[in-house]
Amino acid sequence: ALTPTRDDKFSFGLWTIGYNGTDPFGGPTRAPLDVVHAVEKLAELGAYGLTFHDDDLFPFGSTDAEREKQIDRLKGALADTGLIVPMVTTNTFSAPVFKDGGVTSNDRQVRRYTIRKILRQLELGVELGAKTFVMWGGREGAEYDSAKNIQAALARYKEAVDFLGDYVLSQGWDIRFAIEPKPNEPRGDILLPTLGHAIAFIDSLEHPELVGLNPEVGHETMAGLNFTSGVAQALYHGKLFHIDLNGQRSIKYDQDLAFGHGDLHNAFALVDLLEHGGANGGPAYDGPRHFDYKPSRTEDESGVWDSARANMETYLLLKERADAFRADPEVQEALEAAKVFELEQNTLNDGETIESIKADRSAWEDFDTDAYLNGKGFGFVRLQQLATEHLLGAR
Ligand code: GCO
Ligand code: MN
Ligand code: MN
Ligand code: MN
Repeated sequence: ALTPTRDDKFSFGLWTIGYNGTDPFGGPTRAPLDVVHAVEKLAELGAYGLTFHDDDLFPFGSTDAEREKQIDRLKGALADTGLIVPMVTTNTFSAPVFKDGGVTSNDRQVRRYTIRKILRQLELGVELGAKTFVMWGGREGAEYDSAKNIQAALARYKEAVDFLGDYVLSQGWDIRFAIEPKPNEPRGDILLPTLGHAIAFIDSLEHPELVGLNPEVGHETMAGLNFTSGVAQALYHGKLFHIDLNGQRSIKYDQDLAFGHGDLHNAFALVDLLEHGGANGGPAYDGPRHFDYKPSRTEDESGVWDSARANMETYLLLKERADAFRADPEVQEALEAAKVFELEQNTLNDGETIESIKADRSAWEDFDTDAYLNGKGFGFVRLQQLATEHLLGAR
């Protein structure tokens, strides 16, 4: 059960396994990774999908002929292995032209160029059968408050997403957009810094149904937030279109560790939510389990594949643990005792009125609030310890 299969829907960004180790303090520690080799290795390891930015496949500034050649090489590798491309995205952050962002750059020419670059990648994604188009606006932001009119920037962001959405609708394409929030890095402050900001922004769009979220473990963690809780809210709003799994240890630079190599408890809760948070305890999410991590720059190529395997194995291990957690009668009893299921009951009775709740003595006059002093504990700690024991394989 710990051997990944295509049914597990594991996918990897070409930029993840292809990360050459460059960081702000040093250059590459690994040789470039060819896309055909990447696809073959991923297929061999049991992944089902590869995702990519335009610039991952054909470097920025490639001629049309170079671009076509790389697309053909990718298509050949996909045909040979059966791997698919569930998602694509555009690099609107690396080249100097994007130094003040893409769709929200102060420079209007840059904004128009960015839309063209996104259109090109959107069309390629549709051609390859991608169902999700991720928009990570890493350079959309600022370092200095007076340098960016945030309200105008959000209006330009909306203008771009609305324009792209109209295009998708006019073509009848089966692809949706997923916005990926991040609080900072590379910009000092990035627009749409958290899931909550993005949910509110999506509400302001012309076609909100076409646009959802691509939450990333590390990004919410960098903002000091609980990732699993954020994903649950995304599900609540019907906005979990895609997900970026990785590991992050607290509020610091974007670590992009392998999945589970950060907050393991929260990773357990996440897998439990994805696999058991749906109707009748079934999966709450059936899209790609996409890893957006960076094999540490200490690793050579064999370490890259070890880390790719680690992501998938940890997910499957956590899934096994979460299944056992849910199936344990003691856990069910503890959930019951903690009134976890009671929260699913409506607070108001059917047809409740102001009069009827005022007439209900048990809701006020006869309600014993004193009983909550030194009594009526919820037993949440016991539940968390049961989760911990399952997570550790002690049950
Ligand atoms: C990051 C982001 C990116 C995006 C990718 C997809 O912090 O660098 O997570 O890896 O996910 O650009 O658009
Ligand atoms: Mn990231
Ligand atoms: Mn990251
Ligand atoms: Mn990401």
